[in-house]
Amino acid sequence: MNLQTLQATAKEMVAKGKGILAMDESTGTCNKRFKKIGSEETVEQRRAYRDLLLTCPGLSNHISGAILYDETIRQATLNNVPFPQYAEKQGIIPGIKVDTGAMNLAGHPGEKVTEGLDGLRERFAEYRKMGARFAKWRAVITIGPGIPSHACIQANAHALARYAALAQEADLVPIVEPEVLIDGDHTLERCYDVTRATLRRVFSELAVQGVAFEGMILKASMVVSGEASPQQANVEEVARETVRCLLNTVPPAVAGIAFLSGGQGNEQATAHLNTMNRLFKSLPWPLTFSYGRALQQPALETWRGKKENVAQAQKLLLLRAKLNGAATLGQYSEKMEKEAA
Ligand code: 13P
Repeated sequence: MNLQTLQATAKEMVAKGKGILAMDESTGTCNKRFKKIGSEETVEQRRAYRDLLLTCPGLSNHISGAILYDETIRQATLNNVPFPQYAEKQGIIPGIKVDTGAMNLAGHPGEKVTEGLDGLRERFAEYRKMGARFAKWRAVITIGPGIPSHACIQANAHALARYAALAQEADLVPIVEPEVLIDGDHTLERCYDVTRATLRRVFSELAVQGVAFEGMILKASMVVSGEASPQQANVEEVARETVRCLLNTVPPAVAGIAFLSGGQGNEQATAHLNTMNRLFKSLPWPLTFSYGRALQQPALETWRGKKENVAQAQKLLLLRAKLNGAATLGQYSEKMEKEAA
């Protein structure tokens, strides 16, 4: 493990004004989204869509890194430049999702555990050769009556820590992502309690496995009201409770925190991040974004699988990247949305 390399990469990934583009949807998820927009569900369409995202002019002004999927990291631009090399040349660090998905947790109905540790050391070696400089593993925690169980939090935290240690051994910065799902009708307070319990367990397991906090990034879900809750917390409440939760759980040595959007609206995700950075100016870690849907959705819906829509779709991607970049500095405003429209 080269801690200097890990620290330098992690720092670049969370540089002020920039964030990380999550474009690592599995083939199944990608196809599901293609179906909704009426696009074909083929290898070439998935390549074409990832090409649209990565070759978006100006993207690297606001995007520091891109998370690729196993299929994507092996693909290339139309001019035949492999995606990881293309990204690196633009100043966008290529990364790779390495978990193999969330499976049902035995004996715990309604709960999942993320798999993918088998053979991971060898896979890391291959991804490194292909140019990846960081990795991602996502665990999912579901809130419901009587869940999450201790067993679910414990199993996921342990796997995250084993993954993170292997990533650092291979000199890849681990993005550690324990996502507390927005699904359900729970209150903001319940989300706070579950997120706090999850993060405490995750950092305890990371410490047991000897993971260097300076060389990792936490990908966190925000503390929000459940999607179906009749009582929705406002932007400032979400910002304050999220930061309070992080201050209570995340060691100051961690290189940075990048949020997932997790089903929030595009503008809402930007507003939440912006408010955190506006209200809290001297936190121990930079707060940025690693959004998938909240960056891609307008572009995807405009593209609809057609070549003639690529340029317009790229403009919309660039806009969301730019506004979220502003949110990392607390300089975003709703007015900017209206001006852009
Ligand atoms: P969303 O922002 O769409 O939640 O995706 C981020 C991600 O990478 C989830 O693992």
